Amino acid sequence: MKGIVLAGGTGTRMHPITISVSKQLLPVGDKPMIYYPISVLIAAGIRDILVVTRPVDQRLFHALLGDGSHLGLNITYAEQAQPGGIAEALLLGADHIGNDDCALILGDNIFHGTAFARLLQKEAAQVDGCTLFGYRVQDPERYGVGVTDADGRLVAIEEKPRHPRSNRAITGLYFYDNDVIDIAKNIQPSARGELEISDVNAVYLSQGRAKLIDLGRGFAWLDTGTPAALLQAGQYVRTLEERQGVRIACLEELALRMGFIDADACHALGAAMVNSDYGDYVMNIAAEISGGDRTSWVHQGV
Ligand code: DAU
Repeated sequence: MKGIVLAGGTGTRMHPITISVSKQLLPVGDKPMIYYPISVLIAAGIRDILVVTRPVDQRLFHALLGDGSHLGLNITYAEQAQPGGIAEALLLGADHIGNDDCALILGDNIFHGTAFARLLQKEAAQVDGCTLFGYRVQDPERYGVGVTDADGRLVAIEEKPRHPRSNRAITGLYFYDNDVIDIAKNIQPSARGELEISDVNAVYLSQGRAKLIDLGRGFAWLDTGTPAALLQAGQYVRTLEERQGVRIACLEELALRMGFIDADACHALGAAMVNSDYGDYVMNIAAEISGGDRTSWVHQGV
């Protein structure tokens, strides 16, 4: 399965913060926002990742992530000249996807919960149509919304409905089979001139091939769309990290646990950041895991 992180957009709801800096590079806790969606892809077992950015921002993402080889990844980049919609990422990424399945994740979505890595790996291995991840929210009118029948089967998808028929937001993580390229090519722009991801998902639904997985109430799916939400997300991350002494979305740790890099390489990545607590953590994890205990980690969040 190939991965795409969509990290473009103008971030107007965050102005003036995002006038000169891409939103997905802003800090959430102790790391850049884009680490969180990349951690989800790594946890799903994905190594080929396309990062879609505004042309002006690409240099900065490259400075942060490079070609990904230090993490055992293959990271490439594509430019989105204008925010033409989330589904446009699938067209920009068509060559990258090739004949494979695809996981698309929004660069500003933060997921954290127990056993998430196991769920991701299981679902990534059995995509047939599209797999969506639902999450109960108090304000569904701000999101794509999934309506289910009495048996929990998905029956409708509505983008930002004025009168939502359910509380189930559809999060910004989407698993697709290879048909998604043709489907994305054939949808029409919405009234706001964008290729809407909900329209892609609705095609799969009309074919009876859309699956909605409920992330459950013990799970965290955090918004970073406003300055207040960004601060809350950072506080959530910091609270858990300080309490447990583990780090959420530490890419070096995840790459090591997935077997993408070895403990020596992980330690070297930490040593290169020796002045930060994050660097210390990476070095400590490398030392801890070099004994070979990776067994229990898939039960943990990312
Ligand atoms: O976060 C989940 C929600 O994301 C879903 O529930 C909705 O169905 C989906 O439409 C989307 O809604 P948003 O209102 O959050 O979409 P927004 O336009 O804010 O874009 C989400 C992210 O994707 C944002 O970080 C910017 C980036 N983006 C967006 C567009 C439209 C791009 O990089 N390029 C784009 O063309």
